[in-house]
Amino acid sequence: MENILVTGGAGFIGGNFVQYMVEKYPQYHIYNLDLLTYAGDLTKHQQIENKENYSFVHIDIADRQAVGELFERVDFTYVVHFAAESHVDRSITDPEVFIRTNVLGTQVLLDAAKSAEVRKFVHVSTDEVYGELSFDPTTFFTEETPIQPNSPYSASKASSDLLVRAYHETYGLPVNITRCSNNYGPYHFPEKLIPLTISRVLNDQKVPVYGDGKNVRDWLHVLDHCSAIDLVMHSGTVGEVYNIGGHNEMTNLEVVRTIIRALGKTDELIEFVEDRLGHDKRYAIDPTKIEELGWRPVYDFETGIAQTVDWFLENKEWWEKIISGEYQQYFDRQYARK
Ligand code: NAD
Ligand code: DAU
Repeated sequence: MENILVTGGAGFIGGNFVQYMVEKYPQYHIYNLDLLTYAGDLTKHQQIENKENYSFVHIDIADRQAVGELFERVDFTYVVHFAAESHVDRSITDPEVFIRTNVLGTQVLLDAAKSAEVRKFVHVSTDEVYGELSFDPTTFFTEETPIQPNSPYSASKASSDLLVRAYHETYGLPVNITRCSNNYGPYHFPEKLIPLTISRVLNDQKVPVYGDGKNVRDWLHVLDHCSAIDLVMHSGTVGEVYNIGGHNEMTNLEVVRTIIRALGKTDELIEFVEDRLGHDKRYAIDPTKIEELGWRPVYDFETGIAQTVDWFLENKEWWEKIISGEYQQYFDRQYARK
């Protein structure tokens, strides 16, 4: 059995990826490494936690000794690296932890993967490293677009991308970097626009829209992101960067209004608030290169968002615990015992 290390597998995208891999590949043992920060949660894995091909390891990626010991104990074939501080607003108020986790943590993992001579290190990055596009709809991010990050979050991700590239060029570490657009779907953490809107509309609370609401994001269902990473891991050309996106650009206002309509409420719930500092205008991915590898998204936004709204309706307990803070206390208690 081959061992696959997935970092950040208690978070939104890593969590969906862990479940996808455990179910799809019984011949792989999936190790979910996660620090369980405020964004990490293991209750989402109740369906798989007793499967023979799944294990959880509670480790900080920036803890060199703990990461080294894990690699001594387990022979990993692939590393798929999701673990990160991921929220732009948090990076504006408290950038330091972004540097520690996203930059230093990635470097610790790269060292471990290099010593272990893994078959491939897949680094999950973001379109935000390219900075912003104008509103000209004929412009897109390609893999050749210059790296020009604008927030502390995207700067920390760009730094980690450059380290991954350097480990490939200098030491010959087999790597791929993926840069995906905005994801949505089950287990999206309710500080991000889509789940925040759903949860607030369901509670008849105002939805804060930054600035004029005209900023554009390119939305992709999380399971389409998972299938793209699976493909890159198995078939991506070593050393290459792959952009991932499904040509689904929407203004924030369009996204919020779609959700409000789906829940039978009115635009009165929208509240325009002060803009995010350094707010990127527009992101849009040119996915030609990953399409040439054979990838196609299967979710259109209309279906995907309707299913996501239903998921949040059916899984109120999950996000209500997070919003109320109960969830964090639960994990503090749970891990104090270990
Ligand atoms: P998330 O915030 O939901 O999850 C991050 C996970 O990483 C959490 O489980 C957290 O506990 C874990 N983590 C944080 N610091 C850690 C540390 N020091 N050691 C070990 N684990 C740690 O993030 P997400 O939205 O699922 O994003 C996952 C990855 O995908 C990130 O690298 C992000 O940059 C990238 N990405 C996200 C999006 C998006 O739309 N959310 C789009 C493109 C790329
Ligand atoms: O593009 C990929 C990136 O997408 C990932 O790298 C990040 O990890 C992920 O968090 C996401 O970043 P964004 O900043 O685009 O996502 P967020 O959900 O925070 O915001 C989406 C848009 O909505 C953005 O233009 C800001 C706006 N917004 C956000 C919040 C939280 C609002 O108008 N109101 C809000 O309350």
